[in-house]
Formats: sequence, C-alpha cells, structure tokens
Amino acid sequence: MSSYHLMRASQLVIATHNTNKFKEFSNLIKPFGIVTISSGELKLPEPEETANTFAGNATIKAQKAAYITNLPALADDSGLCVTAINGAPGIYSSRWAGSNKDFTSAMERINNYIKDKEDRTAWFMCVLCLALPTGQTWYFEGRIDGQIVWPPRGNQGHGYDPIFQPKGEIQTFAEMTNSKKNSISHRAQAFHAFRTSCLEEHIP
Ligand code: IMP
Repeated sequence: MSSYHLMRASQLVIATHNTNKFKEFSNLIKPFGIVTISSGELKLPEPEETANTFAGNATIKAQKAAYITNLPALADDSGLCVTAINGAPGIYSSRWAGSNKDFTSAMERINNYIKDKEDRTAWFMCVLCLALPTGQTWYFEGRIDGQIVWPPRGNQGHGYDPIFQPKGEIQTFAEMTNSKKNSISHRAQAFHAFRTSCLEEHIP
C-alpha cells in the first residue's frame, strides 16, 4: 500500500508516555476527526529503544503499540546531530542528558567537543512511524539545518533549543515563540508529511 488514510472517527494510538508530546500531536490530529489515545494512558509498557537509527526506534515504539492495542499507532523519534562529532548525540540525544534530564551538562558536552572546530553545523531530525497491527509501516521525515551557538541563548522550548540556531535565522530555537518554532521545526515538517499523506482528503 503506497499510503494509508486515517478515516474520520477512527482511533489512533500516539505511542508516547510523554504527556506534552501527546498533547502536541493530539492538538494537530484532532481537527481531522481522529480519536487519539496515548500509550501512557493505556498503561502500555515502554519499549527499549534498541535500534541504531531514528526510523528504527520509531518503528519499535509504533509497532509495539499497534500489536498490543490492535489499532494504528504513531510514534516519533528525534534528536540533534552535530556534524563535527559524526552526527552525535543523534539517537542518544535524550540519553546524553541522563535520567535527571540535565540538558545544561549535555549542551556543555557538545560545546566541549566542538569548541576548537571550525565546523559548527548541526541539524535536528524527526522521523514519524505509522504502524498497523499487521506490521505494515509508513515513514515521514523532517529535518532542519543550522549551527551550534555558544553560550546558550533563550529560555523557551526544551532540550537543546538554547544552542541551536536554524540556518537563515538570527534567533535560537529557545529565543523563538512557540508558534515560530512550530512552523519550521523538524517535527513540524515530519507532521506536515504525515498530514498530507494520511489525514487530508485526496480527491482521485
Ligand atoms: P525522543 O523523545 O526519544 O524522540 O528524544 C528526543 C530528544 O531529542 C529529546 O529528549 C531532546 O533531547 C532532543 N530533541 C528533539 N527535538 C528537540 C527540539 O525540538 N528541541 C530540543 N531538543 C530536541
């Protein structure tokens, strides 16, 4: 099947235990008449992210939720990739901040690696996976290029936002309003691809 259309009133599991992520996706999907439920609400076990790509980890989360619930499930995996450190932290972006979510240390770690390097380019990546209980999957990607700045600037957003300045912008993600960031971000681009393919009505 080249694409999959989610019909109005159908149910979709958002495979996340993060309530903010669930709210963000629900708000984007609800206008299309889809009923969203989170794997957190359903008390599904949180699978281990053992793959070595964003798509691989998104697949693990989406397929697990789809099998258990017998419903279509959507999962995302995202992270910051820094060119001068071979794309790190990448899929380990969350893990670099440790269990106490210390992004100040994680940002310092990035700066320590690249402070003497000329190349400060980086990109944020987001891959969405839609999985059916049959095991079928579809992928939607978003990427935004930019550079690492130091010191960190701004106090909006989350994670690595204060050190990431998108190409062509003078503000970091953390200096932008939410609506500005949400109009250009890697997640917004991936969601746009998903929406175009799976939510909007296509007239043949
Ligand atoms: P995930 O929830 O497993 O996809 O982990 C994503 C991790 O990547 C987050 O914990 C952040 O560290 C980082 N990340 C992803 N998107 C963003 C963003 O928009 N701003 C800042 N950090 C992000």
